[in-house]
Amino acid sequence: MIPATREEVAAIVVAAGSGVRLGRELPKAAIEIAGVPMVARAVQAMFAGGADLVVVVAPEVWVERFAQFFPTYADRVKVIPGGLMRQDSVRIGLAHIGSAEIVLVHDAARPLVPPFIVDRVIEAVRDGAPAVIPVVPQVDSLRRIRRNWTVAVDRSTFLRVQTPQGFEADVLRTAHANVGDKEFTDDATMCEAIDIPVMTVPGDGLAFKITEPMDLVLAEVIARGES
Ligand code: CTP
Ligand code: MG
Repeated sequence: MIPATREEVAAIVVAAGSGVRLGRELPKAAIEIAGVPMVARAVQAMFAGGADLVVVVAPEVWVERFAQFFPTYADRVKVIPGGLMRQDSVRIGLAHIGSAEIVLVHDAARPLVPPFIVDRVIEAVRDGAPAVIPVVPQVDSLRRIRRNWTVAVDRSTFLRVQTPQGFEADVLRTAHANVGDKEFTDDATMCEAIDIPVMTVPGDGLAFKITEPMDLVLAEVIARGES
């Protein structure tokens, strides 16, 4: 019997931000969590979850330094310089995924994402969803701002969106080619803007994004507990 061919999966790990809200001198993705740079943890999770190739998009002056973070996977990781906005970094990364038919986009700022989430997103794309996002429930109460007062909203109608997000490669290329100047916070929203349906799969608390100093403290405690 001829084995079914499995589509090649490329992951773009966006790591070109500076981490202004974290307020450190190093770019955020280079900061170590329990001795391992955030971006190295993110890349490891992509491979463990089923990616065949990883494109790391790094701050321009850090490309060579970042390349030294992945000695074990040197031949399967490309490190390239990123752009001004997150979506510019993703677009630049997309030009380096070769013939991969499935592409994941993952924030280096989510270094503790469990590999089973990566696998779950890939499988949903393999099963036919053109765009897939991992989501978790909103735990705090929410209010909408109305001029100088606020109104409660039903939090059960909201979800928090994580990465990796998974796409048919051609769908994401088309979305990026059509966005113009508008800024988007994630890639699924860009796909939705060209009428692509976005499917959700359950995410995981460990895929939280490191944004502020307290997030780094939490990540350090979790990573030390695991090693
Ligand atoms: N990112 C990127 N290129 C940019 C901006 C952001 O690759 N021009 C990446 C970041 O490196 C990060 C992810 O997008 O992994 C999510 O962005 P965010 O958490 O906002 O990170 P920073 O932009 O680095 O942080 P800040 O907004 O606090 O400066
Ligand atoms: Mg940012």
